[in-house]
Formats: sequence, structure tokens, C-alpha cells
Amino acid sequence: QENTTSILNLGNISVLLCFLLSNTNAKLSDRYRALFMLKNIGGKDAVTEISRCLVDKSELLNHELAYCLGQINSDHALPKLSAILKNKNLSTILRHEAAEAIGAIGSLESLSLLQDYTADPVREVAETCQLAVTRVKWLNSSDSKEPVIPNPFSSIDPAPAGSADNRNISSLQEMLVNTELSLFDRYRAMFSLRNINSNESATALAVGLQCSDSALFRHEVAYVLGQMQKSNTVPQLTASLSDLHENCMVRHECAEALGSIATGDCLKTLEEFKRDENTVVRESCEVALDMLEYENSIYKCYRTMFNSSCLIT
Ligand SMILES: [Fe+2]
Ligand SMILES: [Fe+2]
Repeated sequence: QENTTSILNLGNISVLLCFLLSNTNAKLSDRYRALFMLKNIGGKDAVTEISRCLVDKSELLNHELAYCLGQINSDHALPKLSAILKNKNLSTILRHEAAEAIGAIGSLESLSLLQDYTADPVREVAETCQLAVTRVKWLNSSDSKEPVIPNPFSSIDPAPAGSADNRNISSLQEMLVNTELSLFDRYRAMFSLRNINSNESATALAVGLQCSDSALFRHEVAYVLGQMQKSNTVPQLTASLSDLHENCMVRHECAEALGSIATGDCLKTLEEFKRDENTVVRESCEVALDMLEYENSIYKCYRTMFNSSCLIT
């Protein structure tokens, strides 16, 4: 009864999107599109509907549902996200994304929960919580008033960019790969390089895909390269996706990044890995091929023409 009421409160398009998102027989890529449109609509009802789909049989969709809850940035998502983080039977990729989403919402009330999991036995979860704790503290301190290099993308990130005074690509790259620094400071250098948003800063960033110390860090580098959509990083992303020993969270982000860069080489690679043994990688290639098609389609031209909001992030 309650669910029916909440669906009816959404507009007609949202009702269709919720229907599509919750339809486990629909194509994964269609459910993805529905999810990202709902994310862009945002608000309490979208949070309710997205939360209701958690947990789905697709691990990949699950983590994206959690990601979108963080990006909508509403406190209403906190109970669901907290329950996911606490449940050690759930997958690493989902628990990581739930912790990151809690950090994105950035409420001081979440601090003690996040702190409890900073030493989680799953390394990716522990590191995500360490970053989230630092971000929430930063957000609620006077440091967050200091000017940073502005973000040209619409994402809420696990760390802010670095100071607006440092736009020196080689010094930022040095910080990026310096394992003596905290992950938070290396992330800040990463987001500075992303926000500079040039071919040169993308090449500097792609070196981070070689940092063997943290799979979480490498997956974030791949994600950020997907946002930048610079074709000069296709070889590095292809190499990481092709490395069967690489962590599946990293390979997943590389696949999606290649989908959004959407060149002919990207198409070839994604076709090659769409039958990968790992389900998350396989499904990522399926979604990435849909992103690639979208990037090259007439709809994208319309979107650019009318400058409407972004469909897939
Ligand atoms: Fe992630
Ligand atoms: Fe992801």
C-alpha cells in the first residue's frame, strides 16, 4: 500500500522508470538507464524507489543503486545504506559503494558508524570508510571553505580536489602516486588532475592505474578517467581491463570508462570482454556497450544541442 502511494506521488515518467528499474526481467542496460534518470530526478520518492530495489540479483546493479543513493544526497537513504555496510554477507563492491554513499551524504551523525568499519577485514571497505570519515570531518570543518579547483562534472566525490593554487600537473602526479601520503591526500591530487580536465592531466592520472598498493585507489582512477572521456587514456584502460589478475572492481570501472569514451578501439575491447568469466566484468561490458551506443547516437547530438542534463554518469 505504502509503495503504491509513493509511486503515485512521482510524475508519470517516474512511474515508468520505477517499473523498469524494478523489472528483473528487463535488460540490465535498460534498468541502468532508468536508474540514472531517476537519480537525475532525485528527491525523497526516488530514494524510496531505488532503496526498494536493493538487494537485486545483479551485483553490478546493486552497487550502482547504492552509488545513486549517495549522489541524490538525501538523509532518507541513510538507514538502507547503513544496513548494507553492516551486513558482512553482502559483496565487497556493494558494501564499498554504500560506505562511499554515506560519505557523500556527509552527515556528522554517520561518523561513528563509518569509524566502526575503518578496520573492516575487507580492505576495500576499510579504505572506503577511512576516506569517508576524513571527508565528513573535512566537510564539517573550516577547511572546506578554502578554494579548490572547481569540479566541471556533476558528481559528489569521495574527496575534494586540492587547493586552487596547485595546478601543476607534474607535482600533482607526484602526489597521486606517493604511497607515503594518505589515501585522502592522493585522492585530492586525483580530483585536481580530473578537474584540470586536459589530455595532459588525463595522461598523468592514468599512471595511477599502475599503483599496486590499493585496488580501491585504482578503481577510482578508472572511474575518473571515464568522467573525463579522453581518448588518449584508452590504451591504459584497455590494459587494466585485459589484465585477468586485476581486481574486478578496477576492471569494471575500466570497462565503463571505455564505454563512455566510446571510440572504435573501445568497442573492439568491450566486445572481447563481454563474455568474461567474472559476472561483474561481463555485466559492465554489457552496460558499457550501451553507453557507447548512446555516446555515438543521435540522442546524444540532441542532448548536446539542447544542453539538457546528463543521462548516464
Ligand atoms: Fe566505487
Ligand atoms: Fe562502479
